[in-house]
Amino acid sequence: MMELHVSKDPLSVAHNFADFLWQLSQKTEKLTIALSGGSTPQLLFDVLASEYNDKLDWNKLHFYWGDERCVPPTDKESNFGMTKNHLFDHVPVPVGNIYRIIGENAPDQEAIRHSEEIASNLPEVNRLPQFDLVMLGLGTDGHTASIFPHQMELLTAEEICVVATHPESGQKRVSLSGQVINNARLVVFLVTGESKRDKIAEIHNKKGNWKTYPASFISPKDGELHWFMDEAAAGK
Ligand code: 6PG
Repeated sequence: MMELHVSKDPLSVAHNFADFLWQLSQKTEKLTIALSGGSTPQLLFDVLASEYNDKLDWNKLHFYWGDERCVPPTDKESNFGMTKNHLFDHVPVPVGNIYRIIGENAPDQEAIRHSEEIASNLPEVNRLPQFDLVMLGLGTDGHTASIFPHQMELLTAEEICVVATHPESGQKRVSLSGQVINNARLVVFLVTGESKRDKIAEIHNKKGNWKTYPASFISPKDGELHWFMDEAAAGK
């Protein structure tokens, strides 16, 4: 099942997704969420911080990441650091509900540590840990989480967390594998801006080089796939 949610601009997308998340949280006592990084989620976090501070029961939400750069949390590249600045410093999330990928650890060891942490915290479905919601962005090269086109094998890796490498910078990342992402109950892409339009069109229409984009292979087995986009990204 796939659902498109198109809003006129990035702020409307952020409000739309925040409301979606709030409604989801109303239906459960616990929600495990893997957050995306990069720049797109910042607006969502700002909306959650400013308008959902006392509207959302933050005790219910348990935060993980789809991927993290292998840098310290204070580094400007850190997805955890960005989320702390835009969200965690402004809402009452219990510290124990935040399971950051320890970017300052050795990547291979951290992938193993975090895989074990996820396996022990999440229910096992289809012999894999199951997140309630995995939030993803889309790179202009068609990557998602930190699964890049030159490492398509990470989509089907056996591990829960894998070590990835950024194709240009060589920066090491720890990422959920494609199998774990596709085992989630809900996978939600949050994509805005004209720079993503062509990739989205190729992916959704299975045209052009869609087979070379990792994001094309994100399709939850038994779960729901949602795309939250602005008109610039969604195109016509
Ligand atoms: C990361 C993200 C990555 C991101 C895309 C889009 O750690 O960078 O998880 O997958 O979602 O690169 O990034 P922007 O939102 O900055 O365009």
